[in-house]
This record gives sequence, C-alpha cells and structure tokens, in this order.
Amino acid sequence: LAARFEADIAAATDLAALDAVRVAALGKSGEVTQLLKSLGAMDAETRSAEAPKIHALREAIANGLAEKKDELESAELERRLATERVDLSLPVSETPMGSIHPVSQVMDELAEIFADLGFAVAEGPEIEDDWHNFTALNIPETHPARAMHDTFYVDGEHERPMVLRTHTSPVQIRAMQGSTPPLRIIAPGRVYRSDSDATHTPMFHQIEGLVIDRNITMGHLKWTLETFLKAFFERDDVVLRMRPSYFPFTEPSAEVDVGWSMEKGRRVVGGSEGWMEVLGSGMVHPRVIANCGLDPDEWQGFAFGTGVDRLAMLKYGMDDLRAFFDGDLRWMKHYGFRF
Ligand code: PHE
Repeated sequence: LAARFEADIAAATDLAALDAVRVAALGKSGEVTQLLKSLGAMDAETRSAEAPKIHALREAIANGLAEKKDELESAELERRLATERVDLSLPVSETPMGSIHPVSQVMDELAEIFADLGFAVAEGPEIEDDWHNFTALNIPETHPARAMHDTFYVDGEHERPMVLRTHTSPVQIRAMQGSTPPLRIIAPGRVYRSDSDATHTPMFHQIEGLVIDRNITMGHLKWTLETFLKAFFERDDVVLRMRPSYFPFTEPSAEVDVGWSMEKGRRVVGGSEGWMEVLGSGMVHPRVIANCGLDPDEWQGFAFGTGVDRLAMLKYGMDDLRAFFDGDLRWMKHYGFRF
C-alpha cells in the first residue's frame, strides 16, 4: 500500500491530482483511514502489533503529500516567473491625450488680452428671459430685430418669455445691473440662432465687451479694438475700418472691418488688399444705461460683440464652421491645441 501511494504521489503532475491522492488515502473513506478504523475491531494483541505500522504508513503518506505539494507549488511559481515576465523593452501603448478645442483656446487668448487691458470676465445664463435678451437692450416687442435674430423660444410657463440667448449682449445688462461703474468686462459664451449652413451653426460663440465710465468716447472704442485685434492676430499691420451701422442698443453704431491680404495663397488678416467685417460696436444707448438703473448723464460707455468661431477660423485658417461642432477627433487632432 505504501509503495502504491508513493507511486501515485510521484505521478501527480498538478495540485488537483495530488489532492485526489490525498482523498484516496487519508480522506474520510480513504484506504488508510479505513485501516485506522479497523484497529478498533482487532483484539489487543493484533492491535498493538498493527497500530504502529498503520500510523507509520499514515505519517509517511502525509509527509509524501506535503513534500510533493511544496514541489508542485514552487514549480508553478517558477513557471509563472518564466512566462509572465514583464518586458521592459516593449513599446508603451499610446495613452489617448485630449486637446484644447480651438474655440476654448481662442476664448482663453481673448480673456488674456483683455485682462491686460483691465477687463474682467462676466457671465450670464444661456437660457435668458426676453427682457434681458431684447427689451432692456432697447429692442421692444414689435421691433423687427426680434425676427431678425431667428430666436429659439423656450416652451412652458414662465414669468417672462424665455429664449436661448441670441447674442452675449444681455450680459451687458446683467453686468450694469449688478455693480456700480466704472465697469470693464468681456463676456464670452454660447449663443443660439435658428440658422444652419456652411457659415452658420444654430449654436455658436460670441464675445461681448463693455466699458462704462465717465467721459468715454468712440476714440476709446477704436483704440481698444485696434489694440485687441493687433494682439489677437499677432501683427502690427492690422488695419481697422469703422462703418456707420445700426444696433438698437448702441448709438452711434459702427460695424468694424479688418483689412486682409493674400499670403501663400491664403487670405490673412493684416494689410489692406480687401476688407472683411469682424465685429459690431457702438456707444451704449442712453436708454440701455437707464434701463439698468444708471444715470446716462453721468455714465457713458461703449460695447462691442464679435464671433469667437469666426475669429478662430481667421487666425488658424479653418474653412468650415460646421467642423467646429462635428466632434470629429481627426479634426481635433489636427486643429486642437496641446496642453
Ligand atoms: N449683439 C450684436 C450681434 O449679435 C453685436 C453687438 C454687440 C453690436 C455690442 C454692438 C454692440 O450682432
């Protein structure tokens, strides 16, 4: 029996096989266990002769099992050490890294430029009431500008009709209501108009500027815009042209063009081979100042608004506005900014 179990133990090639041998020998109904049990039925003389042999057998098998178990376990460990080696020379798999969307990048650039000029960043809600978006800005209910803006109205019962803001100008109102002049703010953010083609998306980005102080003139406006556009396009030859225009919330109003020229077959800002419109501006209408609870005889100011997406396209040479909002990772990889 001892020889048979010894052979079985030696033949076990894994821990499961070895455990089967243990059960067969020392388990509840194992052969050695049976022998031990049989001791009880023997007469005293036979028992004292057999007992030491059976116990020695049990002991020998238990030792054999333990030894083989150690052996198998260390073999298993050796095998894993040999096969599961970490190969430090393998190339590292690429970790996908995000990048900064050109719109965010340009908003940051603008905030930095205007911070140097003493402008703080102000914010307002994208779901706006029609008083802030229109009425306070001197656009009464019957005004054709409301239709011109292709406004998205928000369904449901509200104290005042709610819209998705059609421009960042309502932030002018919130800024003036919320503080006492002097005031120098920019307000970048999303705006919405029901319009969609190669140059229009239903959501786009604007940045608003507002200065309220004593004795502010259009000269301050022109200097500010010139300084900002030169800094943004990183060229000293940026030329501005102001054309008389109309906005209900500014008087007088001016549309601002920048000069462009052809460089390497591409239209770039700078020089004056031609003109393109980049922003709307003007002196804040006295009625708007009064609507915010300020005295228009004491406080004057200027405001301007421009499209952030447009500015990004002009500076970084992108040609389709819709690509900004497609979420195509290849586009982001190409135009996005590294951290
Ligand atoms: N809110 C105007 C627009 O969206 C731009 C503008 C802002 C014009 C401030 C004048 C002053 O077209």
